[in-house]
Amino acid sequence: MVDTVVLSGAEAQTENGLDPLIDIEAEIDRLRREKNAIILAHYYQEGEIQDMADFVGDSLDLSRKAAATDADMIVFCGVRFMAEVAKILSPTKTVVLPDADAGCSLEDSCQPEDFRKFREQHPDHISLTYVNCSAEVKALSDIIVTSSNAVAIIDQLPKEQPILFAPDRHLGAYLQRVSGRQMTIWPGTCIVHEQFSERELVKLQINNPQAQIVAHPECADAILNHADHVGSTHSILNHVVDSPHNEFIIATEQHIIHQMQKAAPEKIFHPAPGADGTCNCANCPFMALNTLEKTYLAMLNETPRIEVPEELRLKALKPLQRMLEMSPPRVAKKDAA
Ligand code: 13P
Ligand code: SF4
Repeated sequence: MVDTVVLSGAEAQTENGLDPLIDIEAEIDRLRREKNAIILAHYYQEGEIQDMADFVGDSLDLSRKAAATDADMIVFCGVRFMAEVAKILSPTKTVVLPDADAGCSLEDSCQPEDFRKFREQHPDHISLTYVNCSAEVKALSDIIVTSSNAVAIIDQLPKEQPILFAPDRHLGAYLQRVSGRQMTIWPGTCIVHEQFSERELVKLQINNPQAQIVAHPECADAILNHADHVGSTHSILNHVVDSPHNEFIIATEQHIIHQMQKAAPEKIFHPAPGADGTCNCANCPFMALNTLEKTYLAMLNETPRIEVPEELRLKALKPLQRMLEMSPPRVAKKDAA
C-alpha cells in the first residue's frame, strides 16, 4: 500500500521544480549519508539508477538485503510489490518508492477477492505464490516464491500435496515442467515477457549463429523452448558472465544488459525482439517510472512512502518467512539459481 502524502511549503518540490543545475548524484549521496539510507535497485532499472545504488539484485537478494539492513531508510528502486516486501520484512524502517505508480501487470492480474475465491475452490491445495503480487494476496498464500527459489521450494513439498500457483501462468507452466508436479495455475502474465516473438527470435539467432539464448521463466513456452539457459535475473546474469560463449540473446527486460556489459565488457548482448523485430518491447513501463530525480525527491521528502497496516503485514510476513527459510543459500556463483 503506498501512502502518497501531498507535501506543502518548502518540501513541496516537484520533479519539474528541481534546480536544473543541481548535481543529483551528489545530492543523493548527501541524503544517503544524512538519513542513513540504503538504495536498493532491481536489475530492470535504468543504468544510472543501478550505478548509484548500494546494492543491485533480483527479487530474492533484494528481499534478503531489506531484511538484513541496519539503515534507517530503504530507498527501493524497483516496483511496488518489491518495496512492500521490504516494509513487511523491515517494518521499523522508512521505505520509499520513487514513483508511487510503479506497479506490475502480474500484481494487477490477481486481485485479492478473486484470489480468495480461487483458494476457496481448492481447499486441499497448498498455495505457492510468486512474489510479484500485492501484500493482500501474500497474506492469503501459504508460501511465497521467486523465480530463483521456486523449484527448490516445490521439491521440499510432499509428492502427494496438490499445489495452486499464482499469478504467472508462464512461470507456473515452466515450474510444472521442471518439477514434474501437477499444479493448478492462475492465468496472469507479465506484459513485458509475453511480447517476445518466437519468429523474430529465430531470425535473430539465424543472423547471429554464435549467440546463445538466455530467458527468464516469465516468457512463454515458445520462447523458453529455444533457450540454452532459463533462470531468474540473477541466474541469467551469472550464466552469461561465467559461460565460455561470447554472444547472447537476452529474453528478459533489457536493462539487465547494463550489468552484463559491466561484468563482461568483451561480450556481445542482443535484446530479444518483439513482433515488429525491434527490442522495444523489452522495457518494463513500471520500472521505467523511477528516475534519478524522483529518487532524490523521494529521499528528500520521504514520500511516496510504503505503509502496510500491521494486521496485514503480520499475515503477509508468514509466507515470506517460509520462503526465506526454505530458500537454498547462494554460495558458489556458478551454482546460483
Ligand atoms: P527476478 O526475481 O528474476 O529478479 O524477477 C523479477 C521480475 O519482476 C521479473 O519480471
Ligand atoms: Fe512486473 Fe513484468 Fe515489470 Fe517484472 S517486468 S515488474 S513481472 S511487469
